[in-house]
Amino acid sequence: MTKPQRNPTNLGQQKPRLVVGRGNPNARLMLIGEAPGAEEDVQGLPFVGRSGQLLSELMIEAGLDEQHELYICNVIKCRPPNNRKPTAKEIEISRPWLKLQIELIDPELVLLSGATALQAMLGIRSGISKLRGQWQNHDGRDFMPVFHPSYLLRFRSREVGTPQDLTLQDLREARRRLHLLSES
Ligand code: URA
Repeated sequence: MTKPQRNPTNLGQQKPRLVVGRGNPNARLMLIGEAPGAEEDVQGLPFVGRSGQLLSELMIEAGLDEQHELYICNVIKCRPPNNRKPTAKEIEISRPWLKLQIELIDPELVLLSGATALQAMLGIRSGISKLRGQWQNHDGRDFMPVFHPSYLLRFRSREVGTPQDLTLQDLREARRRLHLLSES
């Protein structure tokens, strides 16, 4: 007789899982994205799908050691249905958890990757193209808005002035600042 399977339909596993963070919890640099996608939901880790691959490539090119120098998380900790954008209410509800996570990791510098992170942390609803690459001091900590890797995936070129090139410049600036802070 074949043994009955405990969960032949996998229905119980269709609940989105909690995706908290990855990387070094003692890192001095933190990157905050939007919300987990399909691959992140499967693995329970942020930025492990296509966006994450591009992010890793850019980090390497900018000379940042992702595993040791970075902690990565999202504003929203569960994948929104059908990958839709998080609502203003969801961002609001998630903010206290994100703030707690920032307090616990206590990074010196924070990269806000995309409009959702910009809105959640600085309350700014648009204008990432203008604000990217500029440090913003908030509650005694320095935040830099940067483009989201899923936006960067739309432009493959790294020619001067393209979104990927600008993001590389921003990541190099973050690295420069990080090293400057460790000297002072
Ligand atoms: N996009 C995000 O904002 N976060 C992830 O973890 C994956 C894709």
